[in-house]
Amino acid sequence: MELLGKVAIVTGGASGIGRAIAAELARAGAHIVIADVTRAEETAAELTAALPDGTSSRVLGRHADVSSEHSVEEMMGEVRRHFGGVDILVNNAALFAETTGGPFETIPLDEWRRVFEVNVLGTYLCSRAVTGSMRERGGGAIVNLASGTVFKGVPWRLHYVTSKGAIVAFTRSLASELGPDNIRVNAIAPGFTMSDGVLANADEFTDSIRRSASSRSLARDEVPADLAGAARFLCGPGAGFVTGQTLVVDGGSAFH
Ligand SMILES: NC(=O)c1ccc[n+]([C@@H]2O[C@H](COP(=O)([O-])OP(=O)(O)OC[C@H]3O[C@@H](n4cnc5c(N)ncnc54)[C@H](O)[C@@H]3O)[C@@H](O)[C@H]2O)c1
Repeated sequence: MELLGKVAIVTGGASGIGRAIAAELARAGAHIVIADVTRAEETAAELTAALPDGTSSRVLGRHADVSSEHSVEEMMGEVRRHFGGVDILVNNAALFAETTGGPFETIPLDEWRRVFEVNVLGTYLCSRAVTGSMRERGGGAIVNLASGTVFKGVPWRLHYVTSKGAIVAFTRSLASELGPDNIRVNAIAPGFTMSDGVLANADEFTDSIRRSASSRSLARDEVPADLAGAARFLCGPGAGFVTGQTLVVDGGSAFH
């Protein structure tokens, strides 16, 4: 229970990788805020029901659109009122599976902008919103979801891959800025993962589903639970001297 009593916000925590990370941080003793545009409160109720008897963790669901400054600040205000502040932020919310795949010239401009608003600006707005509280509490941990596609030069979703490259850069530079405040900033780069978003758009990903397992040293499908341990480590005291890093969790496919 290395996160006992810590308060963790997980954006996009209502499904897929975010939900698996939220459940793991709760098992480590943290109070969780699920910040999502869909099913935030329902997910909080489901995760609460799944907690082991006797746990002191509380799970709160709050509707929040990470691309909206107002929505993020409102969510952070509720977190302060409810829990007094925040120690951990997992910037997981992003557009991926629903984005257009194909040659880069064909990506609709509106979609390019929207991907950057959610994936990059959203990560910035949420990080900015929590920093004051983390400073007041003497430190904190921010974990950003990047992607293995950045290190492999994966084609056909250039807006998405570029947005995740920005997350690696953001992680490094913010770690340098926030080190003096004892706020650690790291990233996880998952491989292709059978998340809810991917499963709901499986027709779009037939090639990736067919090929990804065989591209790995550990030749099987990646599932959201595969990311949970890495997130727990980066949020916790075991990673107390780790910052600015991107940990690839993909069964040994991209060697970063
Ligand atoms: N699934 C993969 O193969 C894969 C691979 C590498 C990286 N990732 C990254 O992992 C993270 C999670 O991916 P996933 O596949 O589990 O996604 P998912 O589609 O299963 O879930 C994403 C969640 O984010 C929420 N969300 C979307 N827009 C939002 C917004 N504006 N504000 C708040 N919440 C919002 C959705 O409602 C959803 O609950 C993303 O950052 C993604 O880029 C995924």
